[in-house]
Amino acid sequence: MEKISILGSGTMGHSIALSAAWAGQTVKVYGINEQDLETANNGLANKLGVMVDNDLFDEADAKRIKDSIHFSTSLEETVEGATFIIEVIPEVLELKKEMYAKLEKLVSEDVVIASNTSGFMPSLLSEDMIHPNRFVVTHFWNPGHLIPLVEVVKGSKTDEKTVQRAMQVIADMNKKPILLQKELPGFIGNRLQYALFREAQALLDSGAASKEDIDAAVTYSIGRRLPVTGPLMTADMGGLDVFSAISNYLFEDLATDQRSGKILSELAADGNLGDKSGKGFYDWEPAVSRKLNAERERTLIHFLKNDLQALGEGE
Ligand SMILES: NC(=O)c1ccc[n+]([C@@H]2O[C@H](COP(=O)([O-])OP(=O)(O)OC[C@H]3O[C@@H](n4cnc5c(N)ncnc54)[C@H](O)[C@@H]3O)[C@@H](O)[C@H]2O)c1
Repeated sequence: MEKISILGSGTMGHSIALSAAWAGQTVKVYGINEQDLETANNGLANKLGVMVDNDLFDEADAKRIKDSIHFSTSLEETVEGATFIIEVIPEVLELKKEMYAKLEKLVSEDVVIASNTSGFMPSLLSEDMIHPNRFVVTHFWNPGHLIPLVEVVKGSKTDEKTVQRAMQVIADMNKKPILLQKELPGFIGNRLQYALFREAQALLDSGAASKEDIDAAVTYSIGRRLPVTGPLMTADMGGLDVFSAISNYLFEDLATDQRSGKILSELAADGNLGDKSGKGFYDWEPAVSRKLNAERERTLIHFLKNDLQALGEGE
């Protein structure tokens, strides 16, 4: 089994570490300073508490998981002995490239360097590397410990062995890896998510419906089916003659905007950033935020339990 080191202990870093440790692995995690690591430790304790409360595992398991995650502010110490490194530092191209340059001096060329970038192309990220053949994108979704999908994306110089090792590491974490056959911005998941988000913004900007009704049109209809059938399987089940006929008259009317919509642009420019600032499309009073976040977490855990049951039945 690979020896995993995670660089970055923020939102994604410590939750990816939690996934690996939950699957029985020992993980090392790098954070930039003690305060950064304290935040990660608190985040980890909080997530473990919610998972115990929702019967994903018991207190003893939570302790074992916590004990198998080793935090450090030393990059050298974190990557020593690693065979598979996952970079989870901020989405700043130069910062990531600088990190790979440092890593290539610290670890041998058979160590895989993977990035959790949200959208940079692997060929761009690895363009200055000495050994770009060992570079790959592994895109985990937030919250990293509850969402199964990980998109694996190879660059033009990534070798097949690196891809296979990445797919195995993800599978060993009990995640669902998908492999992109070619690199493209936004990979697969974000392209689909943002196609829906663009149309939702256009509907809101045009006054076609309220924000509540636009959201309800998703959560009470396609949202109910999506956990079971993706868009292509949904079309198969609805009848391809029907879906093709509708595509033929509807596509030309769908939003094609190249930038954020008017309402979103204004909200963001005014510092109304959603949950984290207390106001976005909706108002986020602390009590509302707590309730909705807990509800979303419970639902994600419910799905995860189904996945784990299916995994157990498949063994
Ligand atoms: N947050 C999300 O929803 C999400 C989802 C998928 C992918 N991602 C991607 O994951 C990566 C990390 O995102 P995040 O949300 O965890 O960020 P974050 O800001 O929460 O955490 C980043 C971590 O990187 C480290 N760091 C900070 N500055 C650094 C520096 N100058 N040099 C080295 N390390 C530094 C710190 O440990 C910090 O906690 C980004 O590439 C992001 O695009 C984020």
